Amino acid sequence: MGKHIITPTLPTFTIPATAQIESLTPYYPPEKKQAVIAEIKQELKVQDAVLVAHYYVDEDLQQLAEETGGYISDSLDMAKFGHQHKAKTLVVAGVRFMGETAKILTPEKRVLMPTLEAECSLDLSCPIEEFAPFCDQYPDHTVVVYANTSAEVKARADYVVTSGIAVDLVKWLNAQGKKILWAPDKHLGHYIETVTGVEMIRWQGSCIVHDEFKNQSLNELSHAHPDAALLVHPESPADIIAMADVVGSTTQIINAAKALPNKTFIVATDKAIFYKMKQAAPNKTFIAAPTHGEGATCSSCAHCPWMAMNGLHNLLTVLKTGENEVFLEETMRQKALQSTQRMLDFARDHL
Ligand code: 13P
Ligand code: SF4
Repeated sequence: MGKHIITPTLPTFTIPATAQIESLTPYYPPEKKQAVIAEIKQELKVQDAVLVAHYYVDEDLQQLAEETGGYISDSLDMAKFGHQHKAKTLVVAGVRFMGETAKILTPEKRVLMPTLEAECSLDLSCPIEEFAPFCDQYPDHTVVVYANTSAEVKARADYVVTSGIAVDLVKWLNAQGKKILWAPDKHLGHYIETVTGVEMIRWQGSCIVHDEFKNQSLNELSHAHPDAALLVHPESPADIIAMADVVGSTTQIINAAKALPNKTFIVATDKAIFYKMKQAAPNKTFIAAPTHGEGATCSSCAHCPWMAMNGLHNLLTVLKTGENEVFLEETMRQKALQSTQRMLDFARDHL
């Protein structure tokens, strides 16, 4: 399965180790932590700001979002929430493409991020300088890109998708006889091809977190917990997906933990999601899929280093200083809005 995969050589980039990022995060003793949280809450009010967090950021930030009328969700839903919320400022705790997506959809609002250094290996693997000429080689193909891309790449695409709707959108395009160029996640691309039977030209990027799950150790873990259901994010390699009971986006994984009768789940995605999973299904047990075993690098150990760059310390700083605002060039933003809006329209009309 799969067309010739003719991607240019992927750029190299530095991948920080999660443990190292965490070691740089200031430690607050309990009293100091409460004082910082109180100060953030006060600043959110003063700034007319709302905190929108991804499931993969630190538990403290997720809790703060909940306690202050903010939101925790997947990348698409975060942007939708920010768009319809009345606050003048959106503070996006996540990675850069999430702040950009918020700005694409809501240009009239100030969008701040605790750090602008939080990247994503999928985004980094697909720079516009290489992606645009690559697309130009296939003028008869519809360009579909994952949400984990820069605003520039979205602007070059015909459609943006998130993991939750990628399969449906590709089926729909295929039914109209469209040929598809997919970027940047090779595993999600392969998964889409497997489920839909649609062959695509595929970029060869990957998520460094999901890439680390190890098939053999997962097999052993599954045998040790025969009643556990395995929930897998489709950014994972094909041999991990092949073992899954449910493959889905972060939100779909949480919903599956609620809906399935199993009491125990093995979860192959960023383990920061456990905060919400435990809330959604309090009497169930969640076990992180293993990243150890033969060939293991365990640089992220199931927690994204870029997500880990978001903390109470830099959240308070941006609120106080207004630093780290997201700006997008307007013509490019409007193009990125078209492909993003097509995804929202598709989701509204077909799901
Ligand atoms: P979703 O939250 O859309 O499933 O994406 C996961 C992800 O890659 C965030 O980094
Ligand atoms: Fe990107 Fe993977 Fe981190 Fe998500 S978990 S932001 S896909 S590197």
